[in-house]
Amino acid sequence: MWQFHNPVKIYFGNGKLEEITSILQGRCYAIVTYDHSYFDELASQIKAEAKGCAVVLNQVYENPDIADLAEICAAFEPYESQVEVLIALGGGSVIDTAKALAVAGSHPKIVQDILYHKQPIESALSIIAIPTTTGTGSEVTSWATLWDKERGTKYSLSSLKLYPEAALCDPDLTQALPQSITIQTGLDALSHAMESIWNKNRNPISLQFAKSAIELILQTLPALVNDLQNRELREKMMLGSLQAGLAFSNTKTSIAHNISYGITLDKNIPHGIACSFTLPMILRSFAESEGAVAQDLRRVFGADLVEASKKLGAWISELGVQIQPQDYGYDQREWESLVTEALSGERGQNFLGDSNVLQQLFQKQMKK
Ligand SMILES: [Fe+2]
Repeated sequence: MWQFHNPVKIYFGNGKLEEITSILQGRCYAIVTYDHSYFDELASQIKAEAKGCAVVLNQVYENPDIADLAEICAAFEPYESQVEVLIALGGGSVIDTAKALAVAGSHPKIVQDILYHKQPIESALSIIAIPTTTGTGSEVTSWATLWDKERGTKYSLSSLKLYPEAALCDPDLTQALPQSITIQTGLDALSHAMESIWNKNRNPISLQFAKSAIELILQTLPALVNDLQNRELREKMMLGSLQAGLAFSNTKTSIAHNISYGITLDKNIPHGIACSFTLPMILRSFAESEGAVAQDLRRVFGADLVEASKKLGAWISELGVQIQPQDYGYDQREWESLVTEALSGERGQNFLGDSNVLQQLFQKQMKK
């Protein structure tokens, strides 16, 4: 038996920011966004469109750390009793920070108790997510990634209560994304889709979303990076990212992501790069398999997965992203211990492939 659940109401279309009024239905809201003039402008557009904005909270940092929450919680405190819904306007770091704020309110310790002491999540404010990148998927998932750089680890704040009530996906909001962020977030989306296939939580619906996402992203991203203002390509990329998000909203991620967290912490490599440069080798690890995952991968990537792995590697390289662990400063010993640890972690255990084959392939890759 399998089940698929995703309660997020999705609004999708160019120039659809004005839909916010009907989604809000007169509720008092706070906007969570980046401290940046582009986002100040977007927040002003929302405020002009919909009455009831109590405050704009821009105390958001890349790869949000648990320690960062105190600042935004304090800024939220004077408005806490009146705000009924949070609008998360931005990329993954904004949406994840909004999810943490939705749980914490003005008390960041609530999040610490949940993450450090496994306390249950009692309640969370409603969230309307307005993604401005095409990669995170957080607009349709029920968790937030929070980092603890002091302890050198990454946590996942996870509860069905954290599904946003709505995702307003307007591809026009991604028009201004620079090439580097377009590549990083696009690769993150590709990783979400692929990770949902070699995943023990996979089901027929997540598979359909994943296949469609992979095809769209492979086709669209290289063209988009050379034509950043192209509305049609931006729309396709947002759809690909959304489908990838829907796929992994029900499976969570797997080994590529679990390897990536150590890379981001150790080497400060952006998430989308860290979670995607291993994809060709993980794909290669299914080449000798006749199992269901390998068959599904063949339906997307072609019958010969060795060839497909080479092609995917070349596709990533052409985006200017290196695909060897050595390129990120790892020697064989360091890399092996990172992969071994990642395979034993929660996300690593989602991996529905042969860990030994994967380890051997990585060993061979490191010896080259
Ligand atoms: Fe990711």
